[in-house]
Amino acid sequence: MNTDENIIKMDMGTLRGDASAKDGVLCLGIESSCDETSAAIVDGNRNILSHIIYSQIPEHQKYGGVVPELAARAHILAIDTVVRQTLAAAGKDISDIDVIAATAGPGLIGGVLIGWMAATGMAQATGKPLVAVNHLEGHALVPRLHAAAADGTDLAAGVEFPYLLMLASGGHCQILLVRGVGQYEQIGQTLDDSAGEAFDKVAKMLGLGYPGGPVVDSRAQSGNPARFKFPRPLCDKPGCDFSFSGIKTAARTMLDKTPAPYCDEFINDFCASFQAAVVDCIVNRLGHAMEDSRVRAAAPRTLVVAGGVAKNSAIRAAMQRLARAHGMTFAAPPLNLCTDNGAMIAWAGIENYRAGKIVRTPVAPRPRWPLTEL
Ligand code: KG4
Ligand code: ZN
Repeated sequence: MNTDENIIKMDMGTLRGDASAKDGVLCLGIESSCDETSAAIVDGNRNILSHIIYSQIPEHQKYGGVVPELAARAHILAIDTVVRQTLAAAGKDISDIDVIAATAGPGLIGGVLIGWMAATGMAQATGKPLVAVNHLEGHALVPRLHAAAADGTDLAAGVEFPYLLMLASGGHCQILLVRGVGQYEQIGQTLDDSAGEAFDKVAKMLGLGYPGGPVVDSRAQSGNPARFKFPRPLCDKPGCDFSFSGIKTAARTMLDKTPAPYCDEFINDFCASFQAAVVDCIVNRLGHAMEDSRVRAAAPRTLVVAGGVAKNSAIRAAMQRLARAHGMTFAAPPLNLCTDNGAMIAWAGIENYRAGKIVRTPVAPRPRWPLTEL
């Protein structure tokens, strides 16, 4: 089974960082916490030398979401080939690598174990330093590897600390003040679903398949955001927390009144109206976060979005407008570094290695691992 032929991979290509070589440290990073088996080689000058993602999406699509047992099995079958191909694409051997990093949580524990054990095995066999990367920290720090504006244009430099971060993925939704490596202050969080989950569930109700975010985003571009009235939970309340379950329930109630099949115009308008509600909630909560006394004291100059939902064109555009209105710069990772990927783990590996945070005793992977516990 574990042959190159039966693995669907994407070669993510290379990305150039600083021209002047200052820190040639080479890190091999491995990600396996959900439905992507990925590895990348990144250097300390922000160059991505190679980057391979094996996406399991086709295997989970027929179930409408990720099936943990299938994911774990797929990671086992893919990991060896993905790592070998990543080394080969960079023209490197494992002996050329200075640091090995892998996601050690949070995530689906079967998958996390596979990537983490592969990294631990390589580190033990070679004597290389090993970094246990928190997956959320991978998302949080990747804008320092490469950052882009709302339309995806490269900003040439990575983001500087401190920054105000909207971290929105399939499993998490929080606003963080990022002061430095390992220094994450939570300003707000979701009280129920994550933003990505809301996108995925509404797409499923409309029969649009999995994952839902990309298709809702593209359908919304030709839809009328004012046609359906979605609630904006918590937006009339102080604070920075989110709640998306009410938006999801509103979608279910509206769809129950209009049985399928839905015409294209209906789907586009529904997606646009739903997405507009999510965008309004994010803008409202971030507006409050900017007034938070901890954020005001730290005076971050950049507003950043990261995580899979950061791919969303309307969220990027709205956050760019919000940043401008508050005299801040907006930045997001390039689109291919928003969803789960090995390069963000390799970069977090480099940042942690520089901070001296390497694993010296065996570490057990963690299904739950809040960023605030770092
Ligand atoms: O960060 P990620 O790859 O995995 C987790 O760590 O959870 O995020 C995946 C999530 C999914 O819920 C997917 O629907 C969402 O990111 N997503 C989007 C878009 N692209 C991916 N959500 C909204 N708009 C998009 N364009
Ligand atoms: Zn993720």
